[in-house]
Amino acid sequence: MPAPKTTTVWGTRLGFYLAAVGSAFGLGNLWRFPYVVAENGGGAFVLLYLMLAFLIGTPFLVAELSLGKISRSSIMSAMLKLSGDRHQARALEDPDFPMPAWMRRTLPYIGKISLLLSLSVLAYYAVISGWVLHFLVQLIVSSLRGQLVDPEASLQFLLHNGWLQFALTAIHLTFVAIVVAKDLEEGLEKWLGYSVPLFGFLVVILAYRSMSLDQSQAAIRFLFYPDFSKLKISSLGQALGHVMFTLSVGFGVMVTFGSYLRERASLPIAGFRVTTLDCLISLGAGIMIFPLVIYGRFQDAGPSLLFHAVPKLLAQIPGGQVFGIGFFLCLYLASVGASIGLLETVVANMRETRRVKRSFGAWSAAALALFIAIWPALSTNVLSSVQFHGHGLLELWDAALINWFLPVVALLISQVVAWVLSSELKKAEFTEEQAASGELLYRHWIFLLRYVAPPIVFLALGLQLIGLLH
Ligand code: PHE
Repeated sequence: MPAPKTTTVWGTRLGFYLAAVGSAFGLGNLWRFPYVVAENGGGAFVLLYLMLAFLIGTPFLVAELSLGKISRSSIMSAMLKLSGDRHQARALEDPDFPMPAWMRRTLPYIGKISLLLSLSVLAYYAVISGWVLHFLVQLIVSSLRGQLVDPEASLQFLLHNGWLQFALTAIHLTFVAIVVAKDLEEGLEKWLGYSVPLFGFLVVILAYRSMSLDQSQAAIRFLFYPDFSKLKISSLGQALGHVMFTLSVGFGVMVTFGSYLRERASLPIAGFRVTTLDCLISLGAGIMIFPLVIYGRFQDAGPSLLFHAVPKLLAQIPGGQVFGIGFFLCLYLASVGASIGLLETVVANMRETRRVKRSFGAWSAAALALFIAIWPALSTNVLSSVQFHGHGLLELWDAALINWFLPVVALLISQVVAWVLSSELKKAEFTEEQAASGELLYRHWIFLLRYVAPPIVFLALGLQLIGLLH
């Protein structure tokens, strides 16, 4: 059936999966997952992360997709529709949940906060993407010249040169804005149609390549042997924040992608598939990176772990240059896919609430993100004196957004879906194909959203707070 022309829908059946998976795969899997696992002691944290991914991540993901698909809008307009007066919102609201007036007034702010989160994350995400671009270009240029790069010197040069980081960030954002400024089918879907399969392929090859290192057994043990004594008081919060970050929930990204879905798509299946693929890619990234990390004894390196460990090692293994180009290409493709998701969401919201043109939205939002990116880009140099507990601005930015801000926003969105959105419409998303099993699944989903997720999020935040005060 041809897609209706009046609303934006995915051009191909795969379009949604490519976008959802493309936005889920990213620096979160390859850059953030390994260093957070290293900081939290390995196997036990990985187990916690996997449990939370399916217990909370998938239900939240399905909640955001439902909100988008049912309201046919991005997060801001969805919240505006729900907060409209009773008459206007009746079609979407649950009649059994009489919304108090203060809650009705609060809903639009949830949309705004989530957009702010998207822009702030896009800003520092683009800075790290710039680092990746730096290594990719260096490796390509040096291999063309037949020379070897000095990885540590190259990293130090980059970290001390804030304006270079800023310029690389600008290049990355320009690239992303070009894709998002085009129509869905021409831009996003076409780009992701090539890059997502290539990315999956490269991770498999590189993980396989990494397994031939002597350290691979120790790495597997570190990743999969759960030693619970190594968990920290803040580990629950870090695992939860990372689950949300890596699945792209809490940003309104999945609401936007859900709003482009055709009627027939099954949300629980989509949510489950995206979570499973994303976890597999993270584990693949761990298998690929930890032998390298153990080899170079970089467990304590923090956010620059990847950039210390991988390039330094590349020089020492046979075929390192080619391995390195493949690795950074893979990482860069992943970060473009994720950045596209973030920018697309901001643009979709601007289009719906401000009626701006797609291209204007893309360029102006990218310019705003670039402006915000000045701070993280300068954090390792001009602003290196700004520190808290020994952590620099970029690290603090990342921790504040992902470990604190994100779980709260994601929880708020999920509770709106769990309580306010019409039960009848939600249930229809589950029961369309298989009424009996769909009904059971629906009840579990609502139970997890309403009664399991909130206490876990509060516990995680509380434990983090205790950890912070100690
Ligand atoms: N999920 C992406 C990653 O793992 C990050 C991201 C967050 C992308 C939010 C889009 C939206 O890298």
